[in-house]
Amino acid sequence: MPSHVAIIMDGNGRWAEQKSLPRILGHKYGVETVKRIIRVANKLGIKILTLYAFSTENWKRPYNEINYLFLLLSHFMKKEIYELHNSGIRLRILGDLSKFPVSIRREINKVCSIIPKKVKLELNMALNYGSRQELIHAFKKMFKRGIKNPTEKIVSSFLYTSGQPDPDLLIRTSGEFRISNFLLWQIAYSEIYITRKFWPDFTEQDFKKAILEYQKRERRFGGLKPKKIK
Ligand code: FPP
Repeated sequence: MPSHVAIIMDGNGRWAEQKSLPRILGHKYGVETVKRIIRVANKLGIKILTLYAFSTENWKRPYNEINYLFLLLSHFMKKEIYELHNSGIRLRILGDLSKFPVSIRREINKVCSIIPKKVKLELNMALNYGSRQELIHAFKKMFKRGIKNPTEKIVSSFLYTSGQPDPDLLIRTSGEFRISNFLLWQIAYSEIYITRKFWPDFTEQDFKKAILEYQKRERRFGGLKPKKIK
């Protein structure tokens, strides 16, 4: 089982357009998939699930779409997360929340401060996240601390994912073959799985299929295939 699965949840807009629905409804149904996948990841014993919910580039979208995403986020923080806590899920935010409305920031911080008695799944939600911005943020902090000879371990410890293992598996929905400024440092050796399914259509079975595919991969981390022991 992969320890850490990261997902680029793509295709909400196209899912809606295909059904002649407003784009924002794609996001609404996307939240249903979010809940479904969190539940199944927890059930399967995955330790960390990272979801790309809002990128630093998403501010370029129309005002009403951004506002609707905030509304969904606020609803999610108020209604769903407590049930998630009861299932041993802890929330961490990857990204810079300072541009978010104060009320949402407050809700998110409140949720992040609640730690379940026994953490089963760490849920990372990438919000106003961009990998290049994350690296700049980390380098600035390192300079401030006077770190002159950073190692890989030190750089990792200044990222939003500090203390967590890198993703074993990266899933992207909607058939796009792009990384889109997501976890550039952390996915150096991740296995990548791309499905043509749009995010609102991504099911528990699709998630399990991605994991089965991951389990068939041979991970060499730049080394050679291990020789069979006779
Ligand atoms: C990409 O689809 C998706 C996003 C930019 C937002 C992802 C957000 C959600 C799934 C819902 C918010 C989550 C929570 C937990 C409240 P797109 O709009 O880029 O689709 P397109 O490429 O087809 O236009």
